[in-house]
Amino acid sequence: MMRQKYVMANWKMNASISFIEEFFKIFFNHTLSAAAKCVIFPPAIYLQAVCQKIEDSSLMLGCQNVFYEDKGAFTGEVSSVMIKDFNCKYVLIGHSERRHIFNESEKFVAKKFHHVNDHGMIPVLCIGETLSERESNKTKEVLTRQLNAVFQNQNTFDSAVIAYEPVWAIGTGKTASAGEIEDAHGFIRSVIAQYNKNTADNISILYGGSVNEANAESIFNINDVDGSLIGGASLDPGKFAEIVKCIK
Ligand code: PGA
Repeated sequence: MMRQKYVMANWKMNASISFIEEFFKIFFNHTLSAAAKCVIFPPAIYLQAVCQKIEDSSLMLGCQNVFYEDKGAFTGEVSSVMIKDFNCKYVLIGHSERRHIFNESEKFVAKKFHHVNDHGMIPVLCIGETLSERESNKTKEVLTRQLNAVFQNQNTFDSAVIAYEPVWAIGTGKTASAGEIEDAHGFIRSVIAQYNKNTADNISILYGGSVNEANAESIFNINDVDGSLIGGASLDPGKFAEIVKCIK
């Protein structure tokens, strides 16, 4: 695994066929450098539509969620095997909206992480503290717990990306300060180093939470930040392209 810069678009429960048409018409008018790997995470029902749009480009495809079984009686769920049909390479795991709105436990998140890994795709593990956890000085404790839940008893986590997303910064217009981000990213690397020093040095750690075209450049300049997972601003193809251009 090589440390790599990423800009990822998490469209969440947004988009439509006409949105996708319009998005790529505008996005592909921008000339993007190869410095960042760019991954689009549409809702699962639009994987095929986006897969077709990006097939001749350097963009990669990701899925926002999967279940941890290959197939069977799991109404409404989608598996890693299925999304591979659309050339999906990445899957978001443990996004704060999955943890908090859909009550996904750490054990459940870990099972999904390993399912994705076992199928040769790259899980993007999202971790981060809530506002009350930060205010009660529990940030490091929470990050440690969330990382341990996935990495303990496990020696093959070579292909993964971490997204540090403080819950209070997601969709709120508030970003963590440069110091808070640098601290958290360094801490995450130190926790992973307890499992495997080489992985800790090479794993990409992205920041997420209200990143936009105005603040991206300064966030990407912070030590230990390897790019970003973008929600709101990724729905605007012009703004998203400007963010990608901030990776030098
Ligand atoms: P945001 O979302 O950029 O809208 O804050 C980030 C995320 O949830 O990944």
